[in-house]
Amino acid sequence: MAVHIAGRPCDMDALTEIARRHGLALIEDAAQAHGASWKGRRVGAIGDAGGFSFQASKNITAGEGGAVTTDSDEIAEKVWSLHNCGRSRAGEWYAHYIIGGNHRMTEWQAAILLVQLQRADELHKKRQQNANYLNSLLRELEIVEPLKEDERVTEHAYHLFIFRYFPERMGNVPKSRFIEALRAEGIPASPGYKPLYREPAFSKSSLDWHPYARHYDYSKVKCPVTERVCDHEAIWLKQEIFLGEPEDMEDIARAIRKVRDNYRELL
Ligand SMILES: Cc1ncc(COP(=O)(O)O)c(C=O)c1O
Repeated sequence: MAVHIAGRPCDMDALTEIARRHGLALIEDAAQAHGASWKGRRVGAIGDAGGFSFQASKNITAGEGGAVTTDSDEIAEKVWSLHNCGRSRAGEWYAHYIIGGNHRMTEWQAAILLVQLQRADELHKKRQQNANYLNSLLRELEIVEPLKEDERVTEHAYHLFIFRYFPERMGNVPKSRFIEALRAEGIPASPGYKPLYREPAFSKSSLDWHPYARHYDYSKVKCPVTERVCDHEAIWLKQEIFLGEPEDMEDIARAIRKVRDNYRELL
């Protein structure tokens, strides 16, 4: 499963090759990646199936709900059946062919979504323009850096704008303190995810009840790069910020510069 986190497509060349080599289906989690593309191809249309989320925080939202994309008739029928109580489009309404559930979004939500879809491209372009501008401003600030670019990422959906902070370039002011200072300047920066294996849900005591997960012990898992990035470097800004104007990007850069120039006060 390729999770296009933040709206930045995964390395689909590598994942397609791994899936092909091992005879695996490749599923794209495009929940955060509406409109993103890899080498000119929109995500959700590259693997065997793609999943989109329209939950409240997403780039296009109906409050809740989602969509699955596929060019396989077989997968389309299976997904339709799974979310329609195991019914079949070709069968009787009150016949249930597989064990499914009611995972339908309501028609009220769909009506809202259809209107939102008309604006999807316009908002997508606006986020990209603002994010590109902010990237160019961040390059001049020394203590932070935009993420490395990959020319195969032809469109980033900027559900999240992630940049790196380098504490060692600012008197080792911890990331949490730096974020606090940015928030005091009115910039709603966020520390982002923690490593999954450190989520309380994956602790030994939380997994005890589970028939097979209880055999895992995530306390022994260590991913040093993930930990460094999560604990010390990665900072997030959410997508709605990028529906603002170029002056709002300048505000963000101005706040970072101000914190940088006065970092001794944070020690
Ligand atoms: C990467 C990713 N996958 C899956 C989901 C789940 O989507 P939903 O909340 O619509 O079930 C989300 C967000 O909610 C997400 O960000």
